[in-house]
Amino acid sequence: MNPSVLLIDDDKTIMASLSFLFKGRGCEVLGAHNAKDGIRLAGELQPDLTILDHNLPDMTGIEALQGIKAVMPEALVIMLTGYGSISGAVEAIRAGAFDYLTKPVDIGAIEIAADRAFAVQGLKNENQLLRKLQAAALKEGIVGGSPQTHKLLLMINLLAENPNTTVLIEGESGTGKELAARTIHRMSARRSRPMVDINCASLSETFLESELFGHEKGAFTDAKGLKKGLIEVADGGTLFLDEIGELSQSLQPKLLRVLETMTFRRIGGTRDIKVDVRVIAATNRNLAEAVEQKTFREDLYYRLRVMPITMPPLRERREDIMTLARHFLAQMNAGIKKSITGISPDCEKRLVEYGWPGNVRELKNVIERAVIVSPGPFITQEHLPWELTRPGNGQKKPAAGQPLTLDEAEKAHIASVMERAGGNKSSAARILGISRSTLIAKLKKYE
Ligand SMILES: Nc1ncnc2c1ncn2[C@@H]1O[C@H](COP(=O)(O)OP(=O)(O)OP(=O)(O)O)[C@@H](O)[C@H]1O
Ligand SMILES: [Mg+2]
Repeated sequence: MNPSVLLIDDDKTIMASLSFLFKGRGCEVLGAHNAKDGIRLAGELQPDLTILDHNLPDMTGIEALQGIKAVMPEALVIMLTGYGSISGAVEAIRAGAFDYLTKPVDIGAIEIAADRAFAVQGLKNENQLLRKLQAAALKEGIVGGSPQTHKLLLMINLLAENPNTTVLIEGESGTGKELAARTIHRMSARRSRPMVDINCASLSETFLESELFGHEKGAFTDAKGLKKGLIEVADGGTLFLDEIGELSQSLQPKLLRVLETMTFRRIGGTRDIKVDVRVIAATNRNLAEAVEQKTFREDLYYRLRVMPITMPPLRERREDIMTLARHFLAQMNAGIKKSITGISPDCEKRLVEYGWPGNVRELKNVIERAVIVSPGPFITQEHLPWELTRPGNGQKKPAAGQPLTLDEAEKAHIASVMERAGGNKSSAARILGISRSTLIAKLKKYE
C-alpha cells in the first residue's frame, strides 16, 4: 500500500510543491490549510506521515501537534519551524514531533526526513502485524520468536489470505510442517470447512487412490456402495497431502489433473465432479532431487511449488529452543500432579547446544520425558537423555570404525546406564556393580 501524507500549512506555494513531491513518489496526499481541519483529518485518516507548519492561522504549531497526538498518539509528525528558531525546534521534539525542519524548506531535506519516517512507519506496521500474527499463531500452538519463525508467520499469513493457492511445505521431520498446514487452513477463509489429511506413504497405491477419489457402486468387486473420496470430503476446505514425495508414479498425473482442472472422477465413474479445494502438500524428501531422478513428475512438482515454504530445522534457529522448551514444560505441567517450575542452567545449556536431528518433535519428547523423570521442582541435565549429555552433545558422532578410548567407552557406558536408570544414581550404581560414591566420583570426572 502507498504511504499517506497529510500536509498542514496555510502557505499555498509550499503546499503545492510538497504535494507535487509526495505525489511524484506515489504517496496519497491530503491537505489542510488550518490546524482544526488538519487534526480532524489526522484522526479520521491516520496518515503514515504528517507535515505540520508551525505558523497556522488558528493555533500555534505546538498546540496543533498536541491536537494531532491526541487523536493519533503514534503519529509521525515533521514540524516546519521558523528560521533559526532553536527553541521552537526543541519544543517541537519535546511535544513529540518525529523531526523538525527550518523554513524555508529544502526539498532534499524533506525527502530525507520523510524517508526516515516511512522506514520507522514500515517497521511499526510490520511489528504490529507480527504481534497480531504471533497471537493468532499461539492460538494454533505455534511458538517461537526467532527471525526465521517471524518469516514463517508472515508466510503463513500470506497463504491464509490467498486460500486458493497450492502450497508445498518442505522440511526435515518434526519441524512443524503439519502444524503449519493446519494453521494456514485455520487462519484462512476455508476454516469453516474441513481440513482433510492423508499420508501418501501409509497406504498402498490402490487403497490411496480409492481413498482420494472414492468409487462408484460396483466399480470393483468389493465396491458394494458409492464411496466419496477425500477430495470430495474436503470440498470447500483444504486437502493436506502428507509425504507427497511417496505418491506413486501412476497417481501423480491424476493429482495433477485435479490441481489443474479442479475436477475429478470417482473410480468407475464417467462423470467429472467439480470441487473447490486448496491442496497443501508436505514432504521431508528433497523433491527437486526426486524430479532429477525421475521418480517425481516435473510438471506436478512445479504445480505444487507455486508457494513453497521451507521449515527451518531447529538447529538453525536456536533462539527458539528455550521458548519452545518452556512452552512444552508449561503444557505438560498442566497434566501432572507434581509441579516442575523451571529448567536449570546446566540443562538449558545442553538443550541449546544440542543438534536436534528430530527437531521440535524431539524437543517436545525430551521435555515430556524430563517432566516425568524429574521429582521437581526443576528439570536438570540428569533428566535428559544420553544423546544430549554425552560429549559432543550429539552434534557429531565419533567417526565410524574409529575405536573409543577406555575413558570414552566408560563415559558412554555410564551415561547409557544412567539413562536406563532414569537418572537414579543408586540404581545405576547397582547395575554397574560399583558403589554410589564411586559412581558420583566418575560422574564428576566425566561431567
Ligand atoms: N513452532 C512450534 N511451536 C510449538 N510446537 C511446535 C512447533 N513446531 C512444531 N511443533 C510441535 O512439534 C511436533 C511435530 O510437528 P509436526 O508434526 O507438525 O512436524 P512435521 O514436520 O509434520 O513432522 P514429520 O515430517 O515427521 O511428519 C508437533 O507436536 C507440533 O505440535
Ligand atoms: Mg508431519
